Amino acid sequence: MQPQASTYGEQSFSKALPVNERFTPLRNLKDTWKKSIENPEEFWAQQAKQLDWIKEWDHVLEWDNNHARWFNGGLINVSYNCVDRHAKTSRKNKVAIIWEGEDGDRRGLTYHSLYREVNKIASALKELGIEKGNTVALYMPMVPELPIVMLACARIGAPFTQVYSGFSSGALAERVQHIDAKIIITSDGLWRRGKIIDLKGTVDKAIVDCPTVEKVIVLKRTGHPIHMEEGRDIWYDDALSLAKEKNITPESLPSDHILYVLYTSGTTAKPKGIQVGTGGYLTYITSTLKWAFDVDENDVWWCAADIGWVTGHSYIVFAPLALGLSLVMYEGAPEYPDPGRVWRIIEDYGVTKFYTSPTLLRLLMKYGDDYPKNYDLSTLKILGSVGEPINPEVWKWYYTVIGQERCPISDTWWQTETGGFMLSPAPGLELAPMKPGSATFPLPGVDPLIVDEDGKPVPQGVKGYLTIRRPWPGMLLTLFKDEERYQNYYWRKYPKAEQPLFYTGDYAIQDVDGYYWLLGRSDDVLKVAGHRLGTIELEDTLVSHQSVAESSVVGKSDEIKGEVPVGFVVLKNGYNPSKQLAEELKRHVRNIIGPIAALSNVYFVQGLPKTRSGKIMRRVIKALVEGESVGDTTTLEDKSSVDYIINALNNKPLNI
Ligand code: PRX
Repeated sequence: MQPQASTYGEQSFSKALPVNERFTPLRNLKDTWKKSIENPEEFWAQQAKQLDWIKEWDHVLEWDNNHARWFNGGLINVSYNCVDRHAKTSRKNKVAIIWEGEDGDRRGLTYHSLYREVNKIASALKELGIEKGNTVALYMPMVPELPIVMLACARIGAPFTQVYSGFSSGALAERVQHIDAKIIITSDGLWRRGKIIDLKGTVDKAIVDCPTVEKVIVLKRTGHPIHMEEGRDIWYDDALSLAKEKNITPESLPSDHILYVLYTSGTTAKPKGIQVGTGGYLTYITSTLKWAFDVDENDVWWCAADIGWVTGHSYIVFAPLALGLSLVMYEGAPEYPDPGRVWRIIEDYGVTKFYTSPTLLRLLMKYGDDYPKNYDLSTLKILGSVGEPINPEVWKWYYTVIGQERCPISDTWWQTETGGFMLSPAPGLELAPMKPGSATFPLPGVDPLIVDEDGKPVPQGVKGYLTIRRPWPGMLLTLFKDEERYQNYYWRKYPKAEQPLFYTGDYAIQDVDGYYWLLGRSDDVLKVAGHRLGTIELEDTLVSHQSVAESSVVGKSDEIKGEVPVGFVVLKNGYNPSKQLAEELKRHVRNIIGPIAALSNVYFVQGLPKTRSGKIMRRVIKALVEGESVGDTTTLEDKSSVDYIINALNNKPLNI
C-alpha cells in the first residue's frame, strides 16, 4: 500500500504574492510530485539518466532496514560527470569557476583547465600513496584548489572530509582521527577581513594526535612564514610536479561508494559523520538544483556559502559542475572592505541566480538600501535562502530591494543529512505562490509528515515534528563508523508510528493552504549564523575547564545571527566569578571548538534548574533568557534555581 501522500493547498492563496507569468514556464509541480511519489523508481531512473554512467544500475532502489541503496549495480564517477563530460564537448572553453579572493585576486578556470588541474593533483595523490578507499582530510580555504582536490579525490575513489576552516586544532584532530585520513591537504593560511588566518599552524597542532597522517600537502595562499616538517610536509606545487600521468582514468565506482563524510553537530558531544554516497546523491542534487533554481546553460550561479558546510559541497561544487554551469566562488568576508562587496560581485560577473543565508541578508540589510542600489543587479533572476527560517521582513527586503520584485525567492529547507533541497517553491518546475517565511512545498520524491511525540500525524495548523516518510536519493547512507547511532537517532524516535519515519529534529507546521513553515530545532542543536552547534558539545567544553563544575548552554535570539549561545556556569569550590574568568571561559571554548563556537555571554550561577532526576531543564533557562514565561515548573528540584538564573541575567551579585 502506498503511504498516504501529503496534500497541496488548492486555493485561497490570499496571503501569497501574485505569480508573475514571466517567472517560469508551467511544468506542473503537482503532477510531477504525484508521479514521483506513486512511482518513485520510474521517476528517479529517469532523473539518473541525466548523468553519465559507466554501467547502468540493476535496481533503482533497494530499501532495507532503513538503508536506501540507490541505483545498485550501477558504476559511476562524480569527477567524470563534473569535469570530463564538459571538457570533452563544446563546453570545454566555458568558464567553470570564477573565483575572487578577498584581497581582490581573480581567477577563472574553464572546464578544460579544470580537467587539467584535477588530473594533475589526482596523479600526485596517487604518487603519494592514495588509492581507492583511502581517506583524505581537507582543511582548506575558499580557493579553486578546494573543488579541484574534492574532484581529484572523487576521481580516484578516495573519500574525503572537508573540515571548516573556522574549526580549531582539537576539532580538526577529532575528525581526522575518526576518518583515519592518510593525507591532510591545507594551505598556509587564508584572508579574512584583511587579516591572515594561519591554517597550517592549526594543522601542526592537530597532527600531533593524528597517527594515520603520512603527508601534509600545503597550498601557498597567503605567503606568511610557516613551519614545513621535513619528510612530512610538501608544497602543493611541488606535489603537482610528482604527477606522472596527464589523464587519470576515473575509477568505476559503485553507486553507493562513499564520496565524502561531513561532520555535523547533533545532540551529543561527538559530531556525527554524515556518510554520503555517489550515484543517488549526484542524481538528487542535480535534479533539485534544476527544480529549485531553474538553472540552465546561460546562468552565472553564485552560492555564497562556505564549502566547509553541506551547502558548499552540494551546491557550490558538485551539482553546478555536474550541470556544466559557470559558478562564482568568493574567498572572504561578505562586508569586506565595505558592505557593497556582495552586490559588486553580482554586478561584476552578471550573476543570475544568487543563493545565501538569512544571516548574511540580515547583516547586509543593516547597512541600508544604498549599497545594493549602487550596483546593477538587473542580471538576477532567482534568489535563494537556506540555513534557518527567513524572517518575513528580511524576505520582503530581499524580494523588493535585491530582486526588484522580479525574482522569485527559493526558500530551500534541507539538512546535511538530506544531501540536497527537500522543500522549495520550485521555480524550475512551476513556481508555487510564495508566502514570505515559508519554504512552501516538498520537491518531487519528498514525502514529509508532521507528527506528535508518538509519531501520529498532527492536523494542519498544529505544530509538530517534521519527519520524512520514504527514502530519497540524496539521503545519507549511514553515520560513518556508527550504524547504531544512525538507527537510534534517525529512525527509532517514533516506535509507535505506522511506518519508519526519518527524524529531522525540526519543528514545523502546515498551514490551511498546505504550506510548510519551519519553526526551528526541536532538539539541543543551535543555529548560529546558519551554522549548526550542539549545546552539549559546548557544555562539555565548558566543563573541561578546571574551574567549572556544571554548565548549561542555550540559544538567545540575535538580530543578525538568528541566535547566539549563552553559557551558565556553576564554579567549583575555590573559584570565584570574575570578568577575567568569564573571558577565559569564552576563550577556552573558542580554542577547543573554534571561532564559530564563540559564546556571546557567560553567566555565573549558584545552581542550574534541574528535574528531580537531575536533568538540566534547558527549556526553563531558554525561556528566562528570552524573557518568556517559564511554564510548568512542577518537576523542578530546587525552585530557587530559577532565581539564580534571573539574578544572573539581571546582573545581580554573581553575574559579571
Ligand atoms: O533547522 C533546519 C535549518 O538548518 C538545519 C540543517 O542544518 P545543516 O545540516 O547545517 O544544513 C544547513 C544547510 C542545508 C535544519 O534542520 N534549516 C535549513 N534550511 C532551512 C532551515 N530552517 C528553515 N528554513 C530553511 N530554509
